[in-house]
Amino acid sequence: MKDYKYKIFTSVIEENINKGLLKPGDYLPSVRNIKQEYNLSTSSVQSGYDYLVFKGLVTSLPRQGYIVTNHTLTVNEPHPIPDPVPRDPVFKENILLTSGTGRHSEFTPLNVAAPSDLMVPQKLLLRTMQKVIKEKGAALLRYYPANGSEQLRDALSRRSARHGAIINPDEILITDGALQALYIALAATTDPGDIVAVESPCVFSILEVIASLRLKAIEIPVSYKDGFDIGYLENACKKNNIKAVVITPNFHNPTGILMSDDHKKEILCITDQYNIPIIENDIYGDLYFSNSRPGSIKNFDTTGSVITYSSFSKSLAPGIRLGWMSAGKFFPKAERIKFSLGRSVSPFNQEVINQLLNSAGYDKHLRSFRLQLERQALALVNIFNRYFPGSYTPIPQGGYSIWSRLPADTDMKAFYRYCEKYRLHFTPGKTFSFTDAYDHHFRSIFSQRITSPGLQSIKEIGKSLHH
Ligand SMILES: Cc1ncc(COP(=O)(O)O)c(C=O)c1O
Repeated sequence: MKDYKYKIFTSVIEENINKGLLKPGDYLPSVRNIKQEYNLSTSSVQSGYDYLVFKGLVTSLPRQGYIVTNHTLTVNEPHPIPDPVPRDPVFKENILLTSGTGRHSEFTPLNVAAPSDLMVPQKLLLRTMQKVIKEKGAALLRYYPANGSEQLRDALSRRSARHGAIINPDEILITDGALQALYIALAATTDPGDIVAVESPCVFSILEVIASLRLKAIEIPVSYKDGFDIGYLENACKKNNIKAVVITPNFHNPTGILMSDDHKKEILCITDQYNIPIIENDIYGDLYFSNSRPGSIKNFDTTGSVITYSSFSKSLAPGIRLGWMSAGKFFPKAERIKFSLGRSVSPFNQEVINQLLNSAGYDKHLRSFRLQLERQALALVNIFNRYFPGSYTPIPQGGYSIWSRLPADTDMKAFYRYCEKYRLHFTPGKTFSFTDAYDHHFRSIFSQRITSPGLQSIKEIGKSLHH
């Protein structure tokens, strides 16, 4: 993914489309004109137009050139609203049914939210691992402090400051991945039987932690139009004794929505008013498709009531098992819980990440990683919009997943039977809620390119939707 050159002309076209200066149906300059004007090679111009086609902004007309696409993907989905009642954390269906039952090699796995093997920077990791072993030797085999390596906490604090979150290294805990951080955050802020607010739809991993801590959940709708429904949250806080709000403001899983800074501030204002801590999942924050890294809710926290957590599972490799949390005023309790879950996270993994953050390696990797994710996301959105008649799949703003809705009269059992037959794994919508609001939705992960057999399967499944 080294070709960034085309952005000089694609960004101008994108801007002109967004401003309405270029209208649907307008012809765009020929490849030859762009080539001369921007001094680019034919293949760079071609890649640029491919990128705009992927994005759904431009349509290629055989032998005529490129025009601005005539349909824009708008935000018009009717949103199923779950009732604002605390629910026991019981899934309608066993979620293990969705994890591919161990036959990954035969299937196109669009359900695994992790970088594919080809996207993991194996050479960079291997080089870094060798350097760490050489430099640290036996020190890697000792216990490290329960809260984690001091240098690593410093590096994470400096990195957070780059997007405006002021986090004291002393309030950071290094964890075994993000899910452990979430477990600690919930255990530090709630007792069994308490109510927590979560997004709806909400990724099942979060719902599983809620279930294992025996909490109840109130689902707060997220829509493409407005993101997290603030009025609904306020009403839920007024009527219920909510003990924590778990939220993914940056590239929410499964919708890929980015919450605006104003929205982040408003939510914090409401939760502060009711003295409710926010548990902020920022695991996808580095995977933005725009020009800069979004800030976090933590940026606006002045009282220590926001717990932010993240990990390197999505942006580097899940096998590294390295996450972290900034526990704010809950640090003392969180540290004790962390200790009880395991004395310290593997020193080796901590030093590898420390090394990567203190060199240019991680940022360099992220630049091409994001570009690749964005292209794969746009390709998949286009494929679904083309081959699944009547479906609705908006473009995500970052992260890992897209969230599609099939027409209400689709026989979903038959749909999943076809997916099984054509060896394609999606994650069914019903695993993203304790209600049945999302039976006609499914999530797909774009962590790998769609291969020809994968595309063929999608076409076949799409044909089945006609009947
Ligand atoms: C919201 C959320 N939290 C945590 C995880 C797991 O992260 P980790 O591998 O860092 O524990 C995932 C993905 O599986 C996730 O979607």
